[in-house]
Amino acid sequence: MNVLLIGSGGREHALAWKLAESPRITSLFVAPGNAGTAQFAHNVPLNPLRFPDVAKFIKNNAIDFVVIGPEDPLAAGLADFVHSLGLPVFGPSKQAAQLESDKWFAKELMRRQAIPTAEARSFTNPNAAVEYIQMHGGSCVIKASGLAKGKGVTVCYRTQHALDAIDNIMRKKAFGDAGARIVIEERLTGPEVSILALVDKTAIYVLETSQDHKPVEDGDTGPMTGGMGAYSPTPVVSSDVLSQIEREVLVPTVDGLRRDGIDYSGVLYAGLMLTASGPRVLEFNCRFGDPETQPLMMRLQSDLLETLLAVAEGRLAKINLKWDPRPALCVVATSPGYPGPYKTGLPISGIDHADALPDTKVFHAGTKLKDGQVLTDGGRVLAVTALGQTIADAQRRACQAMALIHFDGMHYRKDIGHQALRPGQ
Ligand code: AMP
Ligand code: GLY
Repeated sequence: MNVLLIGSGGREHALAWKLAESPRITSLFVAPGNAGTAQFAHNVPLNPLRFPDVAKFIKNNAIDFVVIGPEDPLAAGLADFVHSLGLPVFGPSKQAAQLESDKWFAKELMRRQAIPTAEARSFTNPNAAVEYIQMHGGSCVIKASGLAKGKGVTVCYRTQHALDAIDNIMRKKAFGDAGARIVIEERLTGPEVSILALVDKTAIYVLETSQDHKPVEDGDTGPMTGGMGAYSPTPVVSSDVLSQIEREVLVPTVDGLRRDGIDYSGVLYAGLMLTASGPRVLEFNCRFGDPETQPLMMRLQSDLLETLLAVAEGRLAKINLKWDPRPALCVVATSPGYPGPYKTGLPISGIDHADALPDTKVFHAGTKLKDGQVLTDGGRVLAVTALGQTIADAQRRACQAMALIHFDGMHYRKDIGHQALRPGQ
């Protein structure tokens, strides 16, 4: 099969790496890919938002199957477009992708379906939002309703903090049109988990559990990022709680969409907080998580191409996945300044040495190749991922590998997995 994978992040390197292992693959194209995918796949400079170009590429290269990694092309309707060409496509329709691209759409669905989530109000007028904060105080979470690369959320503790967030999103338009509507939510507390499930008309298949780390600094401090590291599985979710999440969140979400005439097909990602009164949904994503996918792909032993194709063709009920029982842990190296403005084009050294360590993979994210040299080319640059006998062992191995890598101003968290580690482990 000739497969076209859309995207360029660490998630896509991990998906491409696993797709390339499939005996069914003939050619793998990644659009646009990064320096990591260039090692074993064909990177193509294709803009996935220009649908006629995508159609031409599919025709000229006899593509049989399209896998869409990131949210932007899904929100723009690329899955519907590929489907209209008569090809199987992995990724939900534009309507279904509203679960991620419109946080208020997701909130209303959760309200209709009685899915446990934070109480919330939405505002399109900044003055009304300010008035609400002045009446109710600043202990809340303020979110741009549209897509903001995981950075559109501010957890607020004081009134001034909340007013600044409203000003930043709605008046200064820090996230452009994505902030034309904001959602102000009740601030919840508890550990967070990422529960990803494959979904088609025939089944919901819950993948192994994982936990992301969104704030930029150790101890979960500093501004929000797209994700600084993840590990799988997480002991934070018991099997009872996982069943509860499937029953109370995943099933009613898919049912609620179906009631509105929308069939979900692809990965459904629920970001949840495990509060004292049970799991609560913080967000839905309509794609694989980044960086959660990196440890998940390290652990997946089944054929990814066959699995994704089964979802696209509505045969998920017949699929069963095999996983490496060992935990995997991923640490993300970021550019100096990220998640604020950052420099790119810095040379990176040591990737090959780190990659050569046993049970270790350096997934590229924001990288590019220039004259044979790997350069930084994004905020999140590399996702160093290792399997271990325990989570502590996987963390040690990922950090050892990271210590072999260098670029100027490189930053990474040293405490990924801390919620699963007891002192002395
Ligand atoms: P989201 O993109 O909506 O998942 O939000 C990004 C991050 O903000 C989450 O991973 C949480 O750390 C935090 N967050 C979001 N919503 C809430 C909430 N209602 N209460 C507390 N923290 C939240
Ligand atoms: N890891 C968070 C996300 O993929 O949105």
